[in-house]
Amino acid sequence: MAKVNTGAALLSLCLLLACSAGGTTAADVDVEATVRTEVENAIKSNPGVGAALIRLVFHDCWVNGCDGSVLLDQTPSGSNTEKKAINNIGLDGFSLVDTIKSKLGNSVSCADIVVFAGRDAARYLSGGKIAYSVPSGRKDGIVSSAAAADAILPQSTFEFQQLKDNFAKKNFTQEELVILSGAHSIGVSHLSSFQDRLNDTTATPINDSYKQALVADIEAQKNSQNTQDPTEKNNIRDMSLKFQNDSGYDTTGVNTAAKGALDNSYYHANLQNRVLFKSDWVMRTDIKAGGDMAEYMNNATKWNNDFAATMVKLSKLPAEGSTHYEIRKNCRVTNQNQGF
Ligand code: HEM
Repeated sequence: MAKVNTGAALLSLCLLLACSAGGTTAADVDVEATVRTEVENAIKSNPGVGAALIRLVFHDCWVNGCDGSVLLDQTPSGSNTEKKAINNIGLDGFSLVDTIKSKLGNSVSCADIVVFAGRDAARYLSGGKIAYSVPSGRKDGIVSSAAAADAILPQSTFEFQQLKDNFAKKNFTQEELVILSGAHSIGVSHLSSFQDRLNDTTATPINDSYKQALVADIEAQKNSQNTQDPTEKNNIRDMSLKFQNDSGYDTTGVNTAAKGALDNSYYHANLQNRVLFKSDWVMRTDIKAGGDMAEYMNNATKWNNDFAATMVKLSKLPAEGSTHYEIRKNCRVTNQNQGF
């Protein structure tokens, strides 16, 4: 486990024993400190990048394990890469990964950078309450397919059973589905990802006042973002006071001042029927999942700890499906495609 605050004693012991891949090395200390500084500075100037980095861990590790495949623009097979998948709409954080890679050089894989950057974003956005260690030593794959990403990643229109099955394929439990979905306390979504909830014929229950406020805001966002598919904030906590009042949002137990914070406020919103995705809402239809959500709503510390533990599990999903692994020189292109 490489930790940024590794004590001097451990560091010298490691140097003495020449700790090998997967363990703590002197280089790891610098690597992790560099990633952390870059991530924190990036979030300070653009808060949205933190949410993007956390989502990136999920979307990289879920498809072929944590292998940096989500970062590729080009592979030897020439297929459309994961970035082109419909399920990867809005995926971001790539230029920050490039910047970090440029500081770390060729000894650190792009897959490790994704995992460390997501970890550091979670720590920063939770005010240090979500903090965990993850091992280093991942390698970058050379396979990346949009079709595979669309087949493997869960969709926001999924039923509860589909979500459960999707998680079970990766050996993740229903409870871990509930825990990781709490990441939707931050970030944004495109209208196209929750449009089904606004159409009366397809809508799964959504609070009516919230829906009315959303519809009005979407029209405003279409104008200000100059697109027919604007984004809205995932969490009602991050919306304006007027929006919250119009929606009849009950803020009891929510730290409304902590806009953009990664915390358990997602469960407050979900249990009030005020979330964007059907995939969030459907968890209410299961007694056990609903009970777990109520527990996380009432116990912020338990969610912080369980989220951290589940992110560690996610960050350890082994790479699979590639014939060759490497440490990419450029996170967007395999070494072969660059002529190395
Ligand atoms: C359980 C199944 C999940 C579904 C169906 C789902 C679906 C989505 C969708 C549709 C978006 C919005 C994309 C867009 O329109 O721009 C989104 C955003 C997001 N998701 Fe999920 N997600 C799931 C699980 C997760 C997990 C496990 C994590 C992380 C651990 C996560 C973290 C995020 C974050 C942070 C955002 C906001 C990204 C940003 O603002 O850049 N999601 N998700």
